[in-house]
Amino acid sequence: MKHIKKIGAIASVFAMAIALSAFSFQQEKPKEEPRPTNLKVLPKNISHDELIATMKEFNVALGVKCGFCHALSKEDPKKMDFASDENHTKEVGRAMIKMTQKINKKYFNRSWDGSPAKAISCKTCHGGKENPEMVLAKN
Ligand code: HEC
Ligand code: HEC
Repeated sequence: MKHIKKIGAIASVFAMAIALSAFSFQQEKPKEEPRPTNLKVLPKNISHDELIATMKEFNVALGVKCGFCHALSKEDPKKMDFASDENHTKEVGRAMIKMTQKINKKYFNRSWDGSPAKAISCKTCHGGKENPEMVLAKN
C-alpha cells in the first residue's frame, strides 16, 4: 500500500512536470521579427511582411538590391543596417514615397467619374530602372 502511494506521488509529480512543460511550450511565442525603429513615411504599425513586400517592390521597380538605399552595419559590415539613414539614397526614397502617395491622393482618386481609384507606383515611372529615362522630344 505504502509503495503504491509513493509511486502515485512520483507519478503525479511527473504528470505535473509534463503539464508544466506543455504549459511553458504553449507560452513560447512564435519568433518575432524586429519592429522597425525609423519609419518616417510608411505607417509605423505596418506588419513585417508588408514592410518587406514593399521593399521588394522597390527592388523590382528600380532594378536594384536592398543595398542601393540601405547602408551597411558599422558593427558587422556583412550585414545591412536597415534603420540607418547613412545612405543618402534612402532619403531620396522617402521623398519618392511621399510624392507617389501625393500624386495618387490628389490626381488618381478618379473623382471626375466616380469609378474605382487607380494608382501609380514606383514602377510606373521607373520601369525597372534606377533613373527613369528622359524621353527627348524630336523636333
Ligand atoms: C528605393 C530605396 C529602397 C530599397 C531598394 C529598399 N529600401 Fe528598405 N527602406 C527604404 C526607405 C525610404 C525606408 C524608410 C521608410 C520610412 O521612413 O517610412 C526603408 C525602411 C526599411 C526598413 C525599416 C527599418 C527601420 O527599422 O526603420 C527595413 C527593415 C527595410 N527597409 C528593409 C529593406 C530590405 C530587406 C530591402 C531589400 C529587399 C530594402 N529595404 C530595399 C528604401 C529602400
Ligand atoms: C512620377 C514619376 C516617379 C515616380 C512615381 C517615382 N519616381 Fe523615383 N525618380 C523619378 C525621377 C524622374 C528620378 C530622377 C530624379 C533626379 O535625377 O533628380 C527618380 C529618382 C529616384 C531615386 C534616385 C535614384 C538614383 O540614381 O539616385 C530613387 C531612390 C527613387 N527615385 C525611388 C523611387 C521609389 C522608391 C518610388 C516609389 C515609392 C519612386 N521612386 C517613384 C520619378 C519617379
